[in-house]
Amino acid sequence: MSEIPAADELLSIAVPVAREAAARARRMRAEGITDVETKSTRTDVVTAADRAVERQVVDALRAARPGDGVLGEEYGESSSEAGAVRWILDPIDGTVNYLYGLPSYAVSLAAEVGGVVVAGVVINAATGDEWTATRGGGAWRDGRRLRCSAQTDLAQVLLGTGFGYDAKRRAHQGAVLAQLITRVRDIRRFGVASLDLCAVGEGLLDAYYEKGLNPWDHAAGGLVATEAGAIVGGLLGAPPGLDMVVAAPPAIFGILHDALVELDAAGGA
Ligand code: IPD
Ligand code: CA
Ligand code: CA
Ligand code: CA
Repeated sequence: MSEIPAADELLSIAVPVAREAAARARRMRAEGITDVETKSTRTDVVTAADRAVERQVVDALRAARPGDGVLGEEYGESSSEAGAVRWILDPIDGTVNYLYGLPSYAVSLAAEVGGVVVAGVVINAATGDEWTATRGGGAWRDGRRLRCSAQTDLAQVLLGTGFGYDAKRRAHQGAVLAQLITRVRDIRRFGVASLDLCAVGEGLLDAYYEKGLNPWDHAAGGLVATEAGAIVGGLLGAPPGLDMVVAAPPAIFGILHDALVELDAAGGA
């Protein structure tokens, strides 16, 4: 078994790899979108860039740390030595934004050790904005340490959300949100889960929730939010991602969680 490096060392491997990946995504966007296909449903799109960026990142990680595993959205899981690092990658988070030329899509790369995310970087590839975090080392943007919002009143919460590609889940979540909209300040849907979680870390959103996120959507951004003081969890003590990802400042998490438990169980009614 190879030695496990410290979280900041893993972050220093991840950041240049993610920057190169962001540059590749941006370049491919400028050259024009090719090979748009659908995956699980007609709304679930993938482009040649999603796959090319994932391959580039996997190759770079392989070269840097050959024994590590990688879980990526497009090519799934590759094996690793027992006890080694597992990298969790979303090569392009926000593929629909990418497709339409909306300037918000991200590379999200996290390092997990023993099932715990210890380092993460999220880069908005369209703008170059970059968020990083290490477990216990804080969340950062441009040398600035991040703190989540200090909001304590659910009625004043600016809530981010997102929708996965499964039609039934979308309809259910839409019904939940139709109820929630009268209990919060307002709701935003930007289309990039990793950036939404970084926005919670930065206090640009008070809170965020989405049903049915995958690890590559929330691993890096979830660490940014947590290290900025937010609580990131699932419903009824479930780990984030198993059923739902809820990210909120400590004073809001319980109230939002309980409202979601109630509305989710009632099917949004
Ligand atoms: C999607 C985005 C979106 C979220 C979806 C994700 P993709 O990721 O993060 O904001 O609502 O659940 O699947 O497919 O663009 O990488
Ligand atoms: Ca996708
Ligand atoms: Ca994603
Ligand atoms: Ca993706």
